[in-house]
Amino acid sequence: MNKKRNIVVGQSGGPTSVINSSLAGVYKTAKERGFHKVYGMLHGIQGFLEEEYVDLSTQIHSDMDIELLKRTPSAFLGSCRFKLPEIHENPDIYDKIFHILEKLDIETFIYIGGNDSMDTIKKLSDYAILKGHSQKFLGVPKTIDNDLALTDHTPGFGSAAKYIAASTKEVIRDALGLTYHKEMITVIEVMGRNAGWLTGATALAKTEECDGPDLIYLPEVPFEIDKFLKKVQELLKKKESIVVAVSEGIKLPDGRYVCELSGGGDYVDAFGHKQLQGTAAYLAGYLGAEIGCKTRSIEFSTLQRSASHMASRVDVNEAFMVGGAAVKAADEGDTGKMVVIDRVSDDPYMSAAGIYDVHRIANNEKVVPRNWVNKEGNYVTDEFINYIEPLIQGDYQPFMVNGLPQHLVLKKK
Ligand code: F6P
Repeated sequence: MNKKRNIVVGQSGGPTSVINSSLAGVYKTAKERGFHKVYGMLHGIQGFLEEEYVDLSTQIHSDMDIELLKRTPSAFLGSCRFKLPEIHENPDIYDKIFHILEKLDIETFIYIGGNDSMDTIKKLSDYAILKGHSQKFLGVPKTIDNDLALTDHTPGFGSAAKYIAASTKEVIRDALGLTYHKEMITVIEVMGRNAGWLTGATALAKTEECDGPDLIYLPEVPFEIDKFLKKVQELLKKKESIVVAVSEGIKLPDGRYVCELSGGGDYVDAFGHKQLQGTAAYLAGYLGAEIGCKTRSIEFSTLQRSASHMASRVDVNEAFMVGGAAVKAADEGDTGKMVVIDRVSDDPYMSAAGIYDVHRIANNEKVVPRNWVNKEGNYVTDEFINYIEPLIQGDYQPFMVNGLPQHLVLKKK
């Protein structure tokens, strides 16, 4: 009897508003290509090790469910930040994973995640080759941070950038309404860890009717607090409302994160990343004390990665495309690879799925090139803006029920 052709898919790392569109792409393509069962790991590889998984056909019943899934933020299956040990450190864990894979007749293992999650694909595909297992391991890119190597950009980034740019515009408008013969400084904090792609996206708020933020600080350029204060004081001579965008990951010249000055950054995850938060609050407090005017800090925090009501159509469609492309690649014999997005043209914007060896991607961080930040290190260049602009285009309207977006939610037994 022929072995059944089953797939298992997992989601890992920080969620995005389109990570489920990739899951939908995996599911739909797997069904179209004749795979028998599509299993979903609950909470990624961490849950899978506990044999926590679902048969996705018990969750997705129609094309309408697929459409709903594409519009649902956060990881439908649950996510994790779990680092597999090196093979020699704990071979038992690998034996266990492959035992579960054999038990479920898994032919293809797909992991939707960022650079840390690609470490899992790298290790499992290496182990399979080492031990002569036949399963294929494919990565699907995902991260709002846009810090994955070799892909033009990552699914999740465009929608987060769209939300950030729109919210920055709204914050600027709000502040302007309240500054009449009175100074006010607003500091906005944006996620992205050590990469400033998302913080730079605040520059998109500069439109016909909005000046955009006054200053933008990315983690790629050391942050000098005295220079920053001087710059703000200089600007206050010309205007009453100043809006500054800072990355959560800006660092002092001595390498400390600015958020550490306020006592933030103590929690460290499995990949050694400090939790970064409190940068804007610290800087707003500092400016308030030094200048003596009203200040406000705003952390977009998890809103920027879960605002699926503001998702970019380009992003939702590309997320779906890369999910499907991973299934196709595995079905055609690829393993140990990650699907990437190649930019085919800028105007009109067009993209296509490509594929790269995951060893070249895992654990690497792609940061903003220095020449896409101005000389002073306090704004991004037109080249940067031109790169992002196509990625925030179009809407993917939520299905509204009683005034609110509807989501597809996992039904556990
Ligand atoms: O990697 C995605 C990301 O959203 C980063 O931008 C951010 O630093 C991190 O996740 C926050 O993770 P958590 O929600 O687990 O604190």
